[in-house]
Amino acid sequence: MAEVTFDYLNLREVEGGLGKEDLDGIQPRLKEAVDGLLGDPPGFMRLPKTREYAEASSGLADEIRGSGATDFVHVGIGGSALGPMAVHRALNHPYHNALSGRRGPRVHFAENTDPATLSAILDVADPAGTWVNVVTKSGSTAETMANFLVIRGFLVDALGSFGYQGRTIATTDPEKGFLKEISEREDLRVLPIPADVGGRFSVLTPVGLLPAAVTGLDVNALLTGAAQCVDEVREQGAEHPAVVGAAMHYLMDTARGRNVRVMMPYADSLERLAAWFVQLWAESLGKDGKGSTPHGAVGTTDQHSQVQLYMEGPQDKVIEIVEVQEHPRDLPIPKAYDDLEGVGYLGGHTMAELLNVECDATRKALTEAGRPNSTIKLGAVNEENLGYLFQALEIQTAASGALYGVNAFDQPGVEAGKEITYKRMGRPGH
Ligand code: PA5
Repeated sequence: MAEVTFDYLNLREVEGGLGKEDLDGIQPRLKEAVDGLLGDPPGFMRLPKTREYAEASSGLADEIRGSGATDFVHVGIGGSALGPMAVHRALNHPYHNALSGRRGPRVHFAENTDPATLSAILDVADPAGTWVNVVTKSGSTAETMANFLVIRGFLVDALGSFGYQGRTIATTDPEKGFLKEISEREDLRVLPIPADVGGRFSVLTPVGLLPAAVTGLDVNALLTGAAQCVDEVREQGAEHPAVVGAAMHYLMDTARGRNVRVMMPYADSLERLAAWFVQLWAESLGKDGKGSTPHGAVGTTDQHSQVQLYMEGPQDKVIEIVEVQEHPRDLPIPKAYDDLEGVGYLGGHTMAELLNVECDATRKALTEAGRPNSTIKLGAVNEENLGYLFQALEIQTAASGALYGVNAFDQPGVEAGKEITYKRMGRPGH
């Protein structure tokens, strides 16, 4: 069973918090939003119970690992990268690539078009053992295709065309797009991104499942956690905490003027989860002059960077703390310097204890200062809980789209910049 809970008490009990009348007032619209989501489910809602993508991803991952792969380069951007990066950062060793005896090959993400990053990947990847996974639903994202072309050249130079083809995977829309065409011409392996699942909702398709399986993570457990969330939402409807969160955050923005939503995990391993969520929320809801601005932070690090602003800056934020009950590792703090009162007190405690005490202290301090905050609590950082959380936050975002009256599944605002890029780079027809 996934252990993920949502606590909104400090969005209600702080001064200026949401009252019963706010929540009662929004209830009919929230119910309509969740009924719409369940009555005509968008593609991402069926993913947790679809096991074919996990099977295909695991099968290919076994082949990759069995081939003695040294490097796995995941090429993609936006929704085609942030989910896989969040999973990798959350569940694998933070120094995975440097670890001897690691599970699977080194993993590299080629996301931006910054040549320094791509060159660095090519500096360390051993072409003799490199696999490349090109991930683009549209099949023509300039950043992804440019990264792919460079890596393709690297592999063709080292291994010849045949060698390159045997080590390249195209994760894309199986029905259309230029990457599909390339995969047919070059007989590449293909993993599907279902037509009805948009990039930022695709972490539980092969987009996220293949890289997870390549490093030996339990992709079925990711899906099991997500399926538990879907089942609960079906049972509880507008009462489900993830759905209630849609109303809370919508009201904080539209009725209280709190248009910044900070996600602040107290675990380094969840820093990319916050980055994934920032894209999900921003790209899904920022339309028609609406939407609150998501922002990622990490506790305790940002207590020494941003918490001053959260405590005493403009009253425009909601802080969402993500707390981990059982950290995967802990270290006792040795006793020393007993005679120095500013140091000696730490000895005998543990690092995880300090992290969680600071998490609780920040929550209390925010609350006492009249700064609305909520908490998502994970029993542990594991596949099941992460799967649950992905699904819950996707459901919350989709329900929020209905409350804002925007289409959570498109992103027309990014087209203008793409068009100018195509024109300047000489893409025919633009
Ligand atoms: O969420 C989205 O749809 C976008 O962020 C896309 O994932 C991103 O633009 C990359 O698109 P594609 O997968 O087509 O390369």
